[in-house]
Amino acid sequence: MKGNYTFTIIKPTAVRKQKTGQILADIIAGGFRIVAMKQIRLQEHEAQEFYRVHRDKSFYQQLVDFMTSGPIVVAVLEKENAVEEYRKLIGSTDPDQALMGTIRAKYAESLRHNAVHGSDSDENARLEAKFFFSQREIFDGLEFSSLAWDEKKSKNKAPA
Ligand code: CMP
Repeated sequence: MKGNYTFTIIKPTAVRKQKTGQILADIIAGGFRIVAMKQIRLQEHEAQEFYRVHRDKSFYQQLVDFMTSGPIVVAVLEKENAVEEYRKLIGSTDPDQALMGTIRAKYAESLRHNAVHGSDSDENARLEAKFFFSQREIFDGLEFSSLAWDEKKSKNKAPA
């Protein structure tokens, strides 16, 4: 069964251009519930760690420089089949390929400055959410979220 959570970043250019509100409105209109959110600025070593999967790519240092260039908004989103549904809402990584009406088509400037990030799998959604949030920052209504925080508890509701 597909998971109900995904993780997103509103990237520095979109935050700097005051697009946070419009992007969040699109996310909510797309049927997602925000179960965790904050605005932060990544430090160099944090960006290097978060993007380590890309460390051998030619664009790695530019990616780290960009993602540390200003505040970002990070959030955990809930919807049935969240990862796939969110990737549909944001569109292709390259905004030139993104379908009209998608978040990247509306707010991205380029492949590098592509407005938002969305997790590409349930496992990465869990790892990425865990990278940025403690369990007590994630809420499912008034309760702590059922988003699995460690592998052993992954099938259970987190303790309140
Ligand atoms: P995202 O999927 O959020 O995280 C990795 C980012 O690397 C991706 O968004 C793009 O913004 C960026 N990226 C991917 N491929 C390239 C590329 N060929 N050149 C520059 N940036 C890229």
